[in-house]
Amino acid sequence: MNILGIETSCDETAAAVVKDGRSILSNIVASQIDLHAQFGGVVPEVAARSHIEMILPVVQQALDEGQLTWGDIDGIAVTAGPGLLGSLLIGTLTARALAIVKQKPLYGLDHVEAHVYANFLSQTPPNFPLLALIVSGGHTQLVLFQDHLKYRVLGLTRDDAAGEAFDKVAKLLGLGYPGGPAIAETAARGSSRAYKLPKAQMGPSTLDFSFSGLKTAVLRQAQHLAEVTLDSPSSEIAASLSEAQVADLAASFQQTIVDTLVDKVLAALTKYQPKSVVIAGGVAANQLLRAELARRLPLSITYAPMNLCTDNAAMIAALGYHFAQAGQTVDPYKLRADSSLMMA
Ligand code: KG4
Ligand code: ZN
Repeated sequence: MNILGIETSCDETAAAVVKDGRSILSNIVASQIDLHAQFGGVVPEVAARSHIEMILPVVQQALDEGQLTWGDIDGIAVTAGPGLLGSLLIGTLTARALAIVKQKPLYGLDHVEAHVYANFLSQTPPNFPLLALIVSGGHTQLVLFQDHLKYRVLGLTRDDAAGEAFDKVAKLLGLGYPGGPAIAETAARGSSRAYKLPKAQMGPSTLDFSFSGLKTAVLRQAQHLAEVTLDSPSSEIAASLSEAQVADLAASFQQTIVDTLVDKVLAALTKYQPKSVVIAGGVAANQLLRAELARRLPLSITYAPMNLCTDNAAMIAALGYHFAQAGQTVDPYKLRADSSLMMA
């Protein structure tokens, strides 16, 4: 069964065709990173406009790359939320129109849940029960899957998402957008022990996360090093820091956030004894996170290739296959984009 996936929740226009939820026949991602870099972050109106221009060529390219025609497509899966509303609307309206015109079943998916399915795009998929650490630009949560489509959220962030913390700290340190890869690269030149930064103490009984305190601690340390007052604009701090100070701050921040994430995965693992652990979302591309999980976890962990960790449509098509198996279609005349959709 071939599912066409469509993803436009943020700043990537993506389409892919996946066979039986695991074999990628095509995977097209048109990134808008260059468009948004000049603004230091994603500008919603610019993103939506670019999705409009790109979506149909990207869908066509996904068919062409897989040497497929519409007759080869058994269903269409699209991200219904969460994300930027203007961006989601382009993907959902396109998928609805295509489902009606091409007479295909339609599946409306949660983008965050779909991130987990990057790990099923493999000939050796992970076993259930499965513990997933989902760490993206908008979400940070631990989810226990008993089976496909059957899950329980164990903990979430109470403030910033992990990727958001990477992006904000990168901006503070003058490292540009997107922040995760920039922090990781700069951290390689610094010492992770240079500065002692706080891990949020939330008590042993919760699997929730909090990163805003860590972000503020980096800001205070940077202000101190740059010898600026607390009320001076944060955009002016980076210019007063040496390259070595920036690298040390990036390395100390990265180590602290990674340690916090691994602590929680270990706590959840001990409590729920899953058969496998996967990490998903853009921050799952982080090499230190992978290395620390491998070092500290008692079982081996499944990693998706880097390009499937960040936003893509193959993960949407992979989850769409399980919606198709379960018969969970949605009326193409009724599917609504939901910018604040939450796994529950
Ligand atoms: O999943 P994703 O592509 O988009 C969302 O659904 O949010 O995640 C994007 C996030 C950004 O915050 C980006 O800075 C972060 O993933 N990211 C990384 C790395 N690559 C991307 N964070 C840490 N290390 C990386 N290597
Ligand atoms: Zn994402």
